[in-house]
Amino acid sequence: MTQITYRPEAPGDAPLIDDLIERAFGPGRYAKAAERLREGNRPMLALSFTAWDGAVLAGAVRLWTVHVGDRPILFLGPIAVEPGVRSHGVGQRLVERACEAAAQAGWRSIFLVGDAPYFGRVGFVPAPDVVMPGPVDQRRVLWRPLTAEATPPAGLARV
Ligand SMILES: CC(C)(COP(=O)(O)OP(=O)(O)OC[C@H]1O[C@@H](n2cnc3c(N)ncnc32)[C@H](O)[C@@H]1OP(=O)(O)O)[C@@H](O)C(=O)NCCC(=O)NCCS
Repeated sequence: MTQITYRPEAPGDAPLIDDLIERAFGPGRYAKAAERLREGNRPMLALSFTAWDGAVLAGAVRLWTVHVGDRPILFLGPIAVEPGVRSHGVGQRLVERACEAAAQAGWRSIFLVGDAPYFGRVGFVPAPDVVMPGPVDQRRVLWRPLTAEATPPAGLARV
């Protein structure tokens, strides 16, 4: 594996990212509650990150503006890394880059639906008071504060 480089998502990256996500998750992903927060929405390109192994896309993470209760908040996902470069910290760095950019842009917190053992490594903790717009294992709803003042998100998640 050569040196991996990271940069925000560019408009032209979408076909490569969509292909990576499709292969990582399969068609079932559209049935997920998280997808209700993405359909009809657009990723925040400046806060979504891509990883590159030379000219080859190695991984990507997307961030979206949604609401929980009355509060605007960032929603993270999907995240996917090419099977050949997994377990080298690319996923973790993608999350860190996205969180740093979000904090710099003035956002207070991020939430997601994902595996706690993985996202716990990068600062995500349970968000028991977020109500997803569809069936979900509540233990997989997690949030990460980006500032010391951030309070846990609570209420219905919606676009
Ligand atoms: C999840 C994913 C993005 C991680 O990418 P990555 O670049 O391998 O991540 P990192 O290198 O930062 O971390 C790898 C470690 O996380 C572990 N890990 C990966 N997925 C995990 C999960 N769902 N739950 C717990 N641990 C997980 C790996 O076993 C590895 O452990 P190790 O360091 O002891 O070897 C990648 O495995 C992937 O694309 N998976 C398919 C898509 C997916 O499931 N995405 C959502 C996950 S909730």
